[in-house]
Amino acid sequence: MAAPRWTGLATFGSVFLRLALGISFLSAVADRFGLWGVYGQPNVSWGNYARFVDYTAALNWFLPAATIPAMAMIATAAETLFGLLLVVGWNTRIVALLSGALLTTFALTMTVALGVKAPLNFSVFSAAGGALLLGVCADVPFTVDELLRRSRQRNQERSTSFSKAGGGGNTRNGRAVSEGATMKAIRLHKEGGPEQLVYEDAPKPQLGAGDALIRVHATGITPAELTYAETYRNCDGSDRLPAIPGHEVSGVVESVAHGVTDVSIGDEVYALTSFCRDGAAAEYVAVHAADLAPKPKTLNLVQAAAVPLSALTAWQAFFDHARLAPGQRVLIHGAAGGVGGFAVQIARWHGAYVIGTASAENRDFLLDLGANEVIDYQHVRFEEIVRDMDVVLDTIGGGTRERSWQVLKPGGILVSLPEPIPESEAAAHGKDSKRGVFFIVRPDREQLSQIAALIDAGAVRPVIAQTVPLTEAREAFERGVAGHTRGKLVLAVDKP
Ligand SMILES: NC(=O)c1ccc[n+]([C@@H]2O[C@H](COP(=O)([O-])OP(=O)(O)OC[C@H]3O[C@@H](n4cnc5c(N)ncnc54)[C@H](OP(=O)(O)O)[C@@H]3O)[C@@H](O)[C@H]2O)c1
Repeated sequence: MAAPRWTGLATFGSVFLRLALGISFLSAVADRFGLWGVYGQPNVSWGNYARFVDYTAALNWFLPAATIPAMAMIATAAETLFGLLLVVGWNTRIVALLSGALLTTFALTMTVALGVKAPLNFSVFSAAGGALLLGVCADVPFTVDELLRRSRQRNQERSTSFSKAGGGGNTRNGRAVSEGATMKAIRLHKEGGPEQLVYEDAPKPQLGAGDALIRVHATGITPAELTYAETYRNCDGSDRLPAIPGHEVSGVVESVAHGVTDVSIGDEVYALTSFCRDGAAAEYVAVHAADLAPKPKTLNLVQAAAVPLSALTAWQAFFDHARLAPGQRVLIHGAAGGVGGFAVQIARWHGAYVIGTASAENRDFLLDLGANEVIDYQHVRFEEIVRDMDVVLDTIGGGTRERSWQVLKPGGILVSLPEPIPESEAAAHGKDSKRGVFFIVRPDREQLSQIAALIDAGAVRPVIAQTVPLTEAREAFERGVAGHTRGKLVLAVDKP
């Protein structure tokens, strides 16, 4: 339940207190220079500076007489400065606390020197209390949620500054990223296939602005990833070799860059990570914190790693690009694969009629996932039996894509995942009001949270072909590249 919000009242109270204190300080200084009149008039305490110096001497009877003029001057300067700073609202918290300390000292000295009933006694104690209250509460959020959020943030920042203070650490990094620290990782030293993957020591990732360091539990494999240019290049196009693959991660937040509030240390998260940065086939990965979503509650961290890239691809294909509507007819090529398995379930959940292509041995599996029909692509040409599709989601490419136009109805859309659609091909079919689109999946925390909700509601589940330890990444990629995986291959990083 949300805590009641007193923010408006608190803000009004703190502004009122700040101005009252500031004006009181300035008013007291004005009084000692005779601005409110001469001594003896109502509401005039000193009336001239000499009387104030005498008053200072009376309070500070224990100090040598020679220091009294300096004390009076210091007190006057401090009150003027604090008064001005409080009125303009500069660093209210600190100024109010210093003011409180000054006023408390003044009030105590007055009580000792002149007795409990000294003139100004009550008002100075009140002002001291007000100043301390303002100092303590100036920044207090007044909602339990906000208090907890700030407490978590302070813990994170403490952790970050701990590593800074530890010496040798990169100043932008969290605890696990001191210079020279290494981790186990799978790396590619040159472009190629699974044969280039090496299990070895690598430097722990460096955190940039907005990053979180994730202690990786598992990463999903996208076999085609080794053919992507981004696997070997940084976001600015420069060479990234040796490069770490694996762009879907599940794990626990280990540390965060300064100012990151999207996640907290210890959160169990999952994400699609940027393709043009090192991936998660390692013990640690640096990720844009804004891309991290809480992992589905009903999945463990290994299962969660099978979700981000494939589920987001299906989600974005249907909802960002094809604008899938309930009741529409969808053909999904490669329905038993990593993307296909999610596509079947998400389209069905959205109320579409789903036809999937797969080999005969995956027929029952796909019917169980929710497909309305399954076509055995090895024995049947889909274009001979399928008609009037609103959407074709192609995860295969080449001839499969080229033949897919025939099954689209006018106004239908072909979404190609493996490769862009040649312009001439799209233009030719555009004449029949058929559209073609290729896109690259992008990280999206909000969509991942929606997918997690679907998973937790039991509407969608990840399909894991096999979980293998990080040390066997090469064999896992080889198996994936062979092209007949049912669901996802997952590397369990924390169980080498
Ligand atoms: N553009 C993007 O953002 C994006 C995102 C994700 C993936 N992709 C691309 O999408 C493609 C699929 O990725 P994925 O991870 O889903 O691959 P995957 O898991 O390796 O797909 C394997 C599946 O493909 C099926 N298959 C193979 N040949 C087939 C055919 N001719 N017709 C129908 N099904 C066939 C296999 O089923 P059987 O065993 O039954 O033969 C197997 O289940 C890859 O090229 C990947 O690069 C692109």
